[in-house]
Amino acid sequence: HPSNLQMEECSNLSRANCRAKGGAPGFKVAILGAAGGIGQPLALLMKMNPLVSVLHLYDVVNAPGVTADVSHMDTGAVVRGFLGQPQLESALTGMDLVVIPAGVPRKPGMTRDDLFNINAGIVRTLCEGIAKCCPNAIVNLISNPVNSTVPIAAEVFKKAGTYDPKRLLGVTTLDVVRANTFVAEVLGLDPREVDVPVVGGHAGVTILPLLSQVKPPCPFTAEETEYLTNRIQNGGTEVVEAKAGAGSATLSMAYAAAKFADTCLRGLRGDAGIVECSFVASQVTELPFFASKVRLGRTGAEEIYQLGPLNEYERVGLEKAKKELAGSIQKGVSFIRK
Ligand code: NAD
Ligand code: LMR
Repeated sequence: HPSNLQMEECSNLSRANCRAKGGAPGFKVAILGAAGGIGQPLALLMKMNPLVSVLHLYDVVNAPGVTADVSHMDTGAVVRGFLGQPQLESALTGMDLVVIPAGVPRKPGMTRDDLFNINAGIVRTLCEGIAKCCPNAIVNLISNPVNSTVPIAAEVFKKAGTYDPKRLLGVTTLDVVRANTFVAEVLGLDPREVDVPVVGGHAGVTILPLLSQVKPPCPFTAEETEYLTNRIQNGGTEVVEAKAGAGSATLSMAYAAAKFADTCLRGLRGDAGIVECSFVASQVTELPFFASKVRLGRTGAEEIYQLGPLNEYERVGLEKAKKELAGSIQKGVSFIRK
C-alpha cells in the first residue's frame, strides 16, 4: 500500500498513476518500438500479463495513439507512452525488463543481414539509453539480425561498463514456437504437448532444430527430418513471402515475445525450473554467443545448458551454423569497436 507521503506526492496524479507509484506488485516493462507490427500486439499481450504493473510504450512514431488504445483495457498494468528520442530516458528509467522490437523488417528477396545497416544504429542508440537509465534491466532483443544485434548490444554495454551477460537475451522463441507447431503437425499431436529445442542462432542455417531431442521422444524418417529442418529454418521467409512486401512475422512474433517475456518475469520472481532457448553469451561452443536452453532466474540467464547428444545430421548442421554465426557475430562486434 502506498505510504501517506506517496499519497501526497500522488495528489496531483490520477489514481492509476498513484497505484503504480505506490508499488503495486509486479514488474516494470518497457517496449521499444511499441507502435510497430510486433510492438502493438506485444503491448496488448503485456497489458494482459498479471506480472506487469507498469508498461512503458516507446516509439519514434504513434506511441500516444497505441498507448491511449491499450490503456483502456481493464487489466492491472498502468500504461504510459513515450514519443521520440527526447523521451527515451523517461521511458527506460526504473524498468525491470526492456523488450526491443524496434527496427525495419524484411521484404521478399532480403536476408535478415540486409537489415543490418539500419537496425544496428537503432539498437546501439536504444542500448546506450538502457546502459544509462536501467543498467540492471533484463533486455529481450528482437530486432534483426539478432545474430549481430545481440553482440552489438553487448559491446555497447561493455563500453558503458554495465555489461552483465546474464541479462542480455536474444529472442529466438519464434523458432521454437514454429518448430513445435510443424513437428506437432507431422506427428498428429497438439502443439502444446510438443517441445523442440532449437539452438544456434536466428537466421537460415544458423537455426538448428534438435529433432533427435524432441519431447515426446519420436524417431523421424530422413525425409521428415529434412522437411522439418528446412521449414523451421525458412519459417520467417515463408511469412515474408506470404505478406508480399507488407513486412515479416508480427502476430506469431508478438505471441513468442510475450511468452519469452513472461518466462523472464517468472524467473525474476524466483520461480524454479524456468527453461527456454535464447541467443546468449555462451561457452557451449567456441563462439562467444550461441542459442541454447537457458535457465532463467532472479538475475537473468543463470545457467546455460550444453547441447546434449546430437545425431550425424545435427552435427553437420551445427558446423554450418557455426560458420555463418561466426561472421554475423564479428560483424556486430566490429560495428561498435571500429
Ligand atoms: P515495423 O516496421 O512494423 O515496426 C518497427 C517499429 O520500430 C516502428 O513502429 C518504428 O517506428 C520503430 N522504430 C524505428 N526506429 C526506432 C527507434 N530508433 N526507436 C524506437 N522505435 C523505432 O517492424 P516489425 O514487423 O515490428 O519488426 C521489427 C523488427 O523485429 C525487425 O527488425 C524484424 O526483422 C524483427 N523481427 C524479429 C523476429 C525474431 O524472431 N527475433 C521476428 C520477427 C521480426
Ligand atoms: C522471423 O523469423 O519471422 C523474423 O526473423 C523476421 C524475418 O525477417 O524472417
